[in-house]
Amino acid sequence: MDTQIIYCGDCLQQLQRLPDACVDLIYIDPPFNSNRNYEVFWGETKEKRSFEDRHASTAAYIDFMRPRVVELARVLKRTGSFYYHCDWHASHYVKVMLDQIFGENAFRSEIIWRRTNAKGLASKGFPNNHDTIFYYTASGDFTWNRPFTEYDPEYIAKFYRFTEPGTGRRYRLSDLTNPNRDRPNLTYEWKGHTRVWRWTKERMEEADRKGIIHYSSTGLAAQKRYLDEMQGQPIDTVWEDIPPVQAQSDERLGYPTQKPLALLDRIVKASSDESDVVLDAFCGCGTAIVSAQMLKRRWIGIDISPTACRVIADRLRKDCKLIEGKHFVVRDLPRTEKQLRVMPPFEFENWAVIALGGIKNKAQVGDMGIDGKIYPAHSAPTQKKDALAFMDVWYPIQVKQKDKAGRPDIDSFEAAMMRENRTKGFFVSFAFSRDALTEIDAFFRRESRVIIPLTVRDILDEELASKLA
Ligand SMILES: C[S@@+](CC[C@H](N)C(=O)[O-])C[C@H]1O[C@@H](n2cnc3c(N)ncnc32)[C@H](O)[C@@H]1O
Repeated sequence: MDTQIIYCGDCLQQLQRLPDACVDLIYIDPPFNSNRNYEVFWGETKEKRSFEDRHASTAAYIDFMRPRVVELARVLKRTGSFYYHCDWHASHYVKVMLDQIFGENAFRSEIIWRRTNAKGLASKGFPNNHDTIFYYTASGDFTWNRPFTEYDPEYIAKFYRFTEPGTGRRYRLSDLTNPNRDRPNLTYEWKGHTRVWRWTKERMEEADRKGIIHYSSTGLAAQKRYLDEMQGQPIDTVWEDIPPVQAQSDERLGYPTQKPLALLDRIVKASSDESDVVLDAFCGCGTAIVSAQMLKRRWIGIDISPTACRVIADRLRKDCKLIEGKHFVVRDLPRTEKQLRVMPPFEFENWAVIALGGIKNKAQVGDMGIDGKIYPAHSAPTQKKDALAFMDVWYPIQVKQKDKAGRPDIDSFEAAMMRENRTKGFFVSFAFSRDALTEIDAFFRRESRVIIPLTVRDILDEELASKLA
């Protein structure tokens, strides 16, 4: 089976490409049933786009998820684990659905991840500040690497009260007397105390020689348990030690639903080994994929949004130093006019700008007629002192997801080009009216500025090179 692949598309269809029982770990974080539009903020500026929330009711959400989870259960190996990340909106209904699909016995735990500390104080009632992650395994024989965290200093101060003279090692005491009173062979006198001990006399002598017995002021023996030999505090089902992706965080890509890498690292490490296959079928900006890659797992990512797929590809290039086409591939990005016509406008704009090799304009609200910018290759800096000079050379891109862009569309793009004093710009649409093309010619004669009309077909046919030159 091929891995290191991002599939663009609905996971219901994409999962059907995978054979039965081929994946070791599945993590999903599907869009929540928040029953309202949610906004996607890209970058630091105020670009806002509403994504349609298709899940008008909890029942519709569960109906949407059920066949997808059935497919996920099919591809999970017998030793595999499944994590479903959600929140209070639908978590109880999700649990019932998962029990029906995997079986109640496959349920292992409900993990509570505290997201924030201070959200929701403005309204009455207890703020909902945690997410729920349901954890299932396909059988009792599942991969498990117990995770630990460091002890907190208060715990250490309270329990590891002794410090060994000479070595400086901290330790706590563990009782050496035996709770079972009826053990004649373990009953003997040791340093003036006759007790039923946990160890035989020979073992006691050996431990004493190694210096791992502590004697109280009365001379009673207890075992030393060294802090530096402990693995840490075993992690339970309440996770409060992983902060959400903060506004200033280096990790932050601008996806509101982006999960912290540390959260995924914990799941990936606990429930898979190196070379295992990790699958995220709603992978957003790819946190699970990046975690899997960094932890030397194989992986498969699926997302319906072409923008998300591009974001993941960029992240793999930047954060993991991977080369697209060599170390990983993105498959099934939209290729036909029909697919592009039905794409949400925000996705369509991203698609067009990215296809032209441009950079998306971040200030989407009030973009003033410019959706993206192309920095031509010849304007790249040649010398150090020019380092930023090339930033002045850019061509605006305007995108209209219309059957036919008309004269008024061209007029407003001309105004934007005049305002920004640009000599060349690109306008993308499905087609252009005769009036629009006539106006483009007139604009050139009047102002000596060029607007290049590009149809979606031009872009799909990849006849672009000559037009972009
Ligand atoms: C909550 S986000 C995932 C965020 C991700 N965990 C991260 O850290 O970036 C949900 C993602 O599911 C995708 N999605 C929605 N419906 C889908 C479907 N039917 N198939 C695949 N992906 C889908 C959305 O495009 C969105 O990127």
